[in-house]
Amino acid sequence: MTSQLFTPLRIGGLELPNRITVAPMCQYSAVDGSMGDWHTMHLGSLAISGASMLVMEATGVTPEGRITPHCPGLYSDANEAAMQRVADFIRGVSPIVLGVQLAHAGRKASSHRPWQGHGPLNAGEGAWQTLAPSPLPLAAGWPAPHEMSRADMDALTAAFVQAARRAARIGLDFVELHSTHGYLLSEFLSPLANRRSDEYGGSLENRMRYPLEVFRAIRSAFPAGRFVGAKISGSDFAEGGWTPDEAVIYARALKAEGCAYVTLSGGGVVLDAKIPLGPGYQVPFAERVKKEVGMVTGAVGLISDPQQAESIIAGGQADFVSLARALLFNPRWPQHAAVALGAEAVWPPQYERGSPKLWPPGRVAGSTGR
Ligand SMILES: Cc1cc2nc3c(=O)[nH]c(=O)nc-3n(C[C@H](O)[C@H](O)[C@H](O)COP(=O)(O)O)c2cc1C
Repeated sequence: MTSQLFTPLRIGGLELPNRITVAPMCQYSAVDGSMGDWHTMHLGSLAISGASMLVMEATGVTPEGRITPHCPGLYSDANEAAMQRVADFIRGVSPIVLGVQLAHAGRKASSHRPWQGHGPLNAGEGAWQTLAPSPLPLAAGWPAPHEMSRADMDALTAAFVQAARRAARIGLDFVELHSTHGYLLSEFLSPLANRRSDEYGGSLENRMRYPLEVFRAIRSAFPAGRFVGAKISGSDFAEGGWTPDEAVIYARALKAEGCAYVTLSGGGVVLDAKIPLGPGYQVPFAERVKKEVGMVTGAVGLISDPQQAESIIAGGQADFVSLARALLFNPRWPQHAAVALGAEAVWPPQYERGSPKLWPPGRVAGSTGR
């Protein structure tokens, strides 16, 4: 039977040759918000993996919106030129559909990189004042964020718009709005981080208001012929937090604003969440949104086996899968999955002879001379 994972998918005006996408992955390797050689190598490698779409990592729309001082940004001409170099490199080696995740880290900004201990920076390490919907620290030991005023929100919306314009100038196919994992927009959405008493807190309609304002502003700033998507939470995995029912309503509202796809992730708003980690643990969130909202929906989270990915697509639970760790472990995952599922992978012509289909029977690859 034909693999459904390797059937085409239309998002916005573009046709993807298969349903395997590269999830955004922070590399904590930028300098003053500018991507460099590490990004060229890392993203270049994933761009020739056979995946059909690649989301570049969470990119701060302001300097203080970065998770760490080593995260990329898209707030300066230098950042734009640096990302342009990476994007041009990728374009030179791969037809992959390419976009960037625009983000603000909210109360989780001003942190250490994971391999330097996570946790907040202290003053001597260049800590900065974080922003959030409410002045609630992430957890004990974290600083209280500044509660955003209306003027702060307007300024940040303008920064998202500027970053979307920069992404458009770079020639990216799409931008993705980061509204999960406890960063700023998911802090607005979650009752655990948003205790506002104005029209941006309280009811779901109020909590969604600012993220939807940002989405609308980005959508109108990014060229109409290119698409804008979002990564959203299916759950906070915590008592009193964001729920799958709310995710369905938020996805529906995003769709009404012209959102081309959503990827359903979750967690990160509080550090003591009880996340039921296991293969495909967030797939049910995607399944609900796909069925109830009827928009292009991605599934993410511990998808690592080709048959598992195939059954998610064939079973109608999601339109595409988004892979992070499995692609770090094996950057040829899509090509290997095609072999496992008897499908056609996308190979760069230079690598076509790596496809076992072309290996002569009984011969070991590499032993055939030219
Ligand atoms: C190294 C690394 C960096 C990540 N950075 C981001 C990011 O920039 N934006 C984001 O939305 N998710 C980020 N994530 C989460 C992944 O995109 C994905 O949602 C999560 O890892 C679950 O998928 P997986 O089981 O395939 O790894 C990151 C994950 C990893 C492993």
